[in-house]
Amino acid sequence: MKRTATRRQFIKGLSVATAALALPAAQYSRVLGANEKLRVGSIGTGGKGWSDLNGVAASPAVEVTALCDIDSSAAHLGRAATKYSSAKTYADWRKLLDNQAEVDGVIVSTPDFMHAPVSLAAMQLDKHVFCQKPLTHTVFEARQMQLAAKKHDLVTQMCNQIQSHTAYRTAVKIVHDGMIGKVKEVHSWQGGTPSWPCNIDRPPGSDPVPDTVAWDLWQGVAPRRPYKKGIYHPFNWRGWQAYGTGQLGDFGCHILDPVFKSLLLTSPLELTAEAPELKPETWTDKATVRYLFPQTQYTAGDTIAVTWYDGAGVRPSRENMSAIPANVDLPGAGSVLIGEKGSLIIPHVAMPKLFLNGSTEETKVEPVPSVDHYVQWADACRGEAETTSHFDYAGPLTETVLLGTVGIRFPGQTLKWDAQKMEIPNFTEAQPWLTKEYVKGWEPAWV
Ligand SMILES: NC(=O)c1ccc[n+]([C@@H]2O[C@H](COP(=O)([O-])OP(=O)(O)OC[C@H]3O[C@@H](n4cnc5c(N)ncnc54)[C@H](O)[C@@H]3O)[C@@H](O)[C@H]2O)c1
Repeated sequence: MKRTATRRQFIKGLSVATAALALPAAQYSRVLGANEKLRVGSIGTGGKGWSDLNGVAASPAVEVTALCDIDSSAAHLGRAATKYSSAKTYADWRKLLDNQAEVDGVIVSTPDFMHAPVSLAAMQLDKHVFCQKPLTHTVFEARQMQLAAKKHDLVTQMCNQIQSHTAYRTAVKIVHDGMIGKVKEVHSWQGGTPSWPCNIDRPPGSDPVPDTVAWDLWQGVAPRRPYKKGIYHPFNWRGWQAYGTGQLGDFGCHILDPVFKSLLLTSPLELTAEAPELKPETWTDKATVRYLFPQTQYTAGDTIAVTWYDGAGVRPSRENMSAIPANVDLPGAGSVLIGEKGSLIIPHVAMPKLFLNGSTEETKVEPVPSVDHYVQWADACRGEAETTSHFDYAGPLTETVLLGTVGIRFPGQTLKWDAQKMEIPNFTEAQPWLTKEYVKGWEPAWV
């Protein structure tokens, strides 16, 4: 499997990005008066975008002024245009941004491969961004998003909304309060069966493009291929390497989030994946990635291992989980943090279960209330709150998740990670997979 983006291209992009770090942050975005509304544009209004739009618009301080979707049918642009009838509608997000004076911020709820191209263009126009998880499609794009938000001093939020749910907030507090002591190892998993295509080849032929769908606009920065009904748009793009990030990409930014937040993780030192050989165009339906991170104030030892597992029915071994009584089942998806004083199960999504060493009973804890992840972004854009999944946090989390998807291409091979240089110094064959090629005319403008 070869990737054509050369190492030189990557390093060129990286040096531009690193130079941008030296630029002073500047506040260009419009300063809102006390009674002024935050004008929001929504890009990708069907699927999860519908609840993203309604979630942000739940703030009385928000006015929805622009809606964009490549599919004009009822389930996509249609119902959003009916509900927010005063908003201008677009099929092409570039046209929405051409009329940039209409919006102060955008919601980006497109498939993964368009998050960075859309968000970077918006940030370069000084628009605040609320973007779906995973933040990007490649590691390089994730670093770019972090740099752009910093350079333009914008309010950003990745939509791993469970971070703001009482379940995950309570789990983070348990660790920060020292209840399980310093953490010795972590296991995180998604044991569901992917509901999108895995391990298949591209189906032959093409189907007529529905009148409501702008297929060229859907493909955006990705290489052109024929439209096939039910194969890519909507939802099933997840299983295809050109558009999605597979099971780890789909769930990693949720399930690994309380691990990152509680242990204050940033970049791994190395990772090693195990997975079946990939088909040329789709992701696999099962993988394991063992990450090693440097120690933090909440971990024991010089390094901390965080192991990710995905696949139908998968669970980590109960070895070293002696604090968890044998009659307590592990959930279908979630994490276990094994600490010096006890173990914590963090189900995805339910209240955490705390077991202290030597006790056979679950220890009850006071729940931390939820906050509204969507309205928090709108409030923060107005200077009335701070976001918790801003791109300074979501960038490194997404980089880690997507490094795992690079590792899946090279099973059994340990990849060392130099986060500062953005290099895999011990295995340069993997380096090109940190980025990708963009279709001519659609190349993002890097920071
Ligand atoms: N946070 C969560 O819990 C959660 C849940 C589901 C999906 N997601 C994320 O939301 C994003 C969308 O996933 P989905 O399941 O809704 O996908 P989907 O394909 O069902 O919906 C995507 C929507 O965006 C539109 N669209 C596609 N390309 C576009 C473009 N270039 N410009 C404008 N509109 C475009 C589609 O027509 C559709 O309405 C993904 O990044 C996914 O990972 C997050």
